[in-house]
Amino acid sequence: MGCRKRLALVGLLAGLAMLVAAGALPALGQPEDGRKELEIFSWWTAGGEAEGLSELYRQYSTRHPEVKIINATVAGGGGMNAKAVLVTRMQGRNPPDSFQVHAGHELIDTWVVAGKMEPITFIFEDLGYLQAYPRGLVDIISWREEIYSAPVNIHRSNVLWYNKPIFARHGLRAPGSIDELIEVCRKLSGAGITPLALGDNGIWAATHLFESVALACLGSEGYRGLWDGSTPWDSPEARQAIARFIGLLDYVNSDHAALSWDGAAQYVADGKAAMTVMGDWVEGYFKAKGLAPGEQFGWAASPGTAGSFLMLSDSFGLPKGAKHRAEAIDWVALCASREGQDAFNPKKGSIPARTDGDRRLYDAYLRSAMADFAGNRIVPSVTHGAAASEGWVNQINQVMSTLITEKNLDDAVAGFVQAAKAGGVALRTR
Ligand code: GAL
Repeated sequence: MGCRKRLALVGLLAGLAMLVAAGALPALGQPEDGRKELEIFSWWTAGGEAEGLSELYRQYSTRHPEVKIINATVAGGGGMNAKAVLVTRMQGRNPPDSFQVHAGHELIDTWVVAGKMEPITFIFEDLGYLQAYPRGLVDIISWREEIYSAPVNIHRSNVLWYNKPIFARHGLRAPGSIDELIEVCRKLSGAGITPLALGDNGIWAATHLFESVALACLGSEGYRGLWDGSTPWDSPEARQAIARFIGLLDYVNSDHAALSWDGAAQYVADGKAAMTVMGDWVEGYFKAKGLAPGEQFGWAASPGTAGSFLMLSDSFGLPKGAKHRAEAIDWVALCASREGQDAFNPKKGSIPARTDGDRRLYDAYLRSAMADFAGNRIVPSVTHGAAASEGWVNQINQVMSTLITEKNLDDAVAGFVQAAKAGGVALRTR
């Protein structure tokens, strides 16, 4: 470009900047009506999750009425589609202002170590929030002495949800072990009822069931060992866990591959199936559909896992290059606040990540989850980003896709061993 042309361009840009400063033109990223914007990225579109998110938006808008919220959701439970879209946006240097990310390896390995996030310890310090969080949770959102996201909740993965009228009609109790679960499944299928609803059109839902079965078969230490190498995937115990999982597949709905997690929950609500093992976002879903905890549906720790709490946490951080950084900081602060969490979680079917939530706002199920979170052994969910890196989880999901159709124990063991080699090395060299 010639010197005169360059000067003209500089002049034009300077002129535009003056107009923007004078308020005559909207600033980049600011809508024409002069309101500020905030783009929030998540996969919360199903019953319960969408309602919870709306509550957070309501709170944000009350605090910051001048900001227009852009609800950037990508449908697909467990983030199966959203995570891929997020990678593309981050690689294209077009980050949302804040995005849903699981606390633990998903946050740290995928985004923090890669240098894509700003530390947000200052938000916790400025607001005096550090003491309000359990130490163990702060640990898994931290990297080299800095905090990188605000956990808005704690979800429990290992929950069995069941249709109470069906259980009452058949004189059944919630099964307390895998053996009892098989027994109940046999009775139900003998009575012509689909025992176990599974909606694994996103394969993560099958992995989700598997993590509960693995915890039941291996115990909390053995289950942890899958992620730090002390429980080899080809050990007799791990083989047995995989074998038991395969055995359970005999009792799931035949259309599982076409169904989503909420579709499976709806089968239980409608009495088309008796049980499902899924995280407690199912509670949010049931309530959004007008079902009352303890009446139409019951719950128990997934069979064989009482005393252990398979945890995961949804959190929001501050990506580098966020277009509306100041608004995003307000968002993260809301997610970290007691008011934000107490508005969100009763609808979402999760408990506050903070220890000072107002218990009166939570129903019987959620209060039981609070008690269990405080008293149980806490183990990290692998399906939802807490236990292992996303790369490893993706490989596990690939093995699972084959396992669920072929039901071949040896192939599955070999696949998981391979996945652990790559994933485990990555973890240890971090
Ligand atoms: C999980 C997420 C939950 C819930 C669920 C189903 O990964 O942590 O908040 O949204 O997916 O979509």
